[in-house]
Amino acid sequence: MSQITLRVNGGSHTVDAEPTTPLLYILRNDLGLQGPRFGCGLGQCGACTVIVNGAAVRSCITPVSSVRTEVTTLEGISPNGKLHPLQQAWIEEQVPQCGFCQNGQIMTAKAMLDKNPHPTDAQIRETMSSTLCRCFSHFRVQTAIKRVVVKGVARGTEDASPAAGREGLA
Ligand code: FES
Ligand code: FES
Repeated sequence: MSQITLRVNGGSHTVDAEPTTPLLYILRNDLGLQGPRFGCGLGQCGACTVIVNGAAVRSCITPVSSVRTEVTTLEGISPNGKLHPLQQAWIEEQVPQCGFCQNGQIMTAKAMLDKNPHPTDAQIRETMSSTLCRCFSHFRVQTAIKRVVVKGVARGTEDASPAAGREGLA
């Protein structure tokens, strides 16, 4: 066991853990953050996705000792209870079905939009293609992301039209 200090969602946490322990286990079991899910445990489904250093990372295959920078989980994207624009779009498009994959969908989309607020439809499809959904919510995921892109939320030019985001991907 080693003492490992992590920065998560703006806070600092020190845990006793084996250095090879998956980051996912620390987030869920030690820090009580239930946003990231255990799906495959093999880095293949995306349910466990968190953002590390601006990138979408599969926490089930990320040794906790390898994490040197701030970790953002689903809980960290809605500070003070204010929904992230993606979460709002998810509600408006009624994206989830069973919901199990949705952490991965939202966190993967957030990492994409943080780097590129105006992805093309093809870029959205390509980025989201590796985050699996057994309920086949993929089209609604893409439409919700497009809604955020069309609204221009990242640029502060929000379009309140209910139809915003439906073009092309609906
Ligand atoms: S649980 Fe991590 S990729 Fe599936
Ligand atoms: S909503 Fe059920 S797995 Fe995606």
